Amino acid sequence: MNDENMKKISGNPYIIRKNGKIIIDSLPLDELIRKFETPLMVFLENRIRDNIKSFNMVFNEIFDNFQSFYSMKANYLPDICKIINSEGVGAQIVGLPEFKLALSVGFSPQKIIIGGPYLPEDLIDLSIKNRVKEIIVYNLNDLKKINSIAQEYNWVQNICIRVNSQKYDSNLGVILSANNIDILKKTIESYHNVNLTSILSHFGTQMNNIDQFEKNISSLVTSLNLLLKHDINIRNINLGGGFPEATVMPQKKLKEVAQDIKSILDKSGISFDSISFEPGRYFVGDSGMFITKIVKVNENRWIFLNIGNHICPKFARCSLRFYNASQINEPHKYKTSIAGIVPTDQDVLAKNYFFTKNLTEQEFVLVANTGAYCLTFSNRFPYPLPKMVLIKDENFIPIFDPILDKDFSLM
Ligand SMILES: Cc1ncc(COP(=O)(O)O)c(C=O)c1O
Repeated sequence: MNDENMKKISGNPYIIRKNGKIIIDSLPLDELIRKFETPLMVFLENRIRDNIKSFNMVFNEIFDNFQSFYSMKANYLPDICKIINSEGVGAQIVGLPEFKLALSVGFSPQKIIIGGPYLPEDLIDLSIKNRVKEIIVYNLNDLKKINSIAQEYNWVQNICIRVNSQKYDSNLGVILSANNIDILKKTIESYHNVNLTSILSHFGTQMNNIDQFEKNISSLVTSLNLLLKHDINIRNINLGGGFPEATVMPQKKLKEVAQDIKSILDKSGISFDSISFEPGRYFVGDSGMFITKIVKVNENRWIFLNIGNHICPKFARCSLRFYNASQINEPHKYKTSIAGIVPTDQDVLAKNYFFTKNLTEQEFVLVANTGAYCLTFSNRFPYPLPKMVLIKDENFIPIFDPILDKDFSLM
């Protein structure tokens, strides 16, 4: 990156500005623009691999017995999941379609943990049949169901209890009330086909400072200590996900966070056999981008792109970054508001965003950091899904065509 004509875009080493052109990995953006209509969704294989390696390296250096489970809901495109599986991480899954997909792309059930607020019987059944590593329980009433299905399969199912992280008024996970502790004690005494192995606390997404991690650890430690007081000894801890995009939390910062997590845990005095995380956004968030077009320019410096909240939703909480790809050498320092094409005034992608001075219809705009949760939270507004391509080095392969593939979310 010494060449002064070369500059990272959005802090991403795989999106480069070079001699007035954008190079994505080693492929000129112009080539994609020549071959595809916009909007186009682009993913970077090498970035996903780097993010996983970097995350695992940082935590493996700090903890003796560490594992990561990709939170598949962040992006469950089969080709993306295949890359992630090939890096050797596990998968964290909430529902049946994801589970079938995980199995079909080759995740070993011993590296799959499954569960969520809704555990239908067919999901429990398939999980136990496949001998998944753990079933994650948010509702203690599910334990009875799991126990009886496990009994049918003559199997003892490992269980992870998701405790409520006490964030604001969160309703997710078990609150360890006297009544719930009683249920857990009775479970251990009378349900012989479930085994409480782990405890999970997940605090939220886009956690940019250590305070949020600290609050999460504190909730987990309080829960573990409370359980211990009642002779319930759970040996494995899982701190969930919540890391921002890797460009937003580069490796150096991630290392500091990991060290802080370690020292907070050390100070807490709890002991545990293994520690897990469930990153979603960190692995894939900055591996995805949209190539879009300006379809309308208003006099008050509002531009309209040919994407919108149906495919780039606020709910996804992405750290969106916008670049005028047609004028990439021009300074991006003029406040511009950016709207989408859903016909409602609510379809705002960014307000007062620093962008180029001149705004012209038909110009191309690169929207970075859309790899996590955009597709997950996309909705059925009557526009077609975009085509999607996966780039590696100077090559690209189409991975989704709405005409041919219809819907990648159904297995
Ligand atoms: C329990 C749990 N684990 C992991 C994740 C992944 O979060 P992120 O993509 O922010 O890392 C989520 C996201 O909602 C979650 O609910």
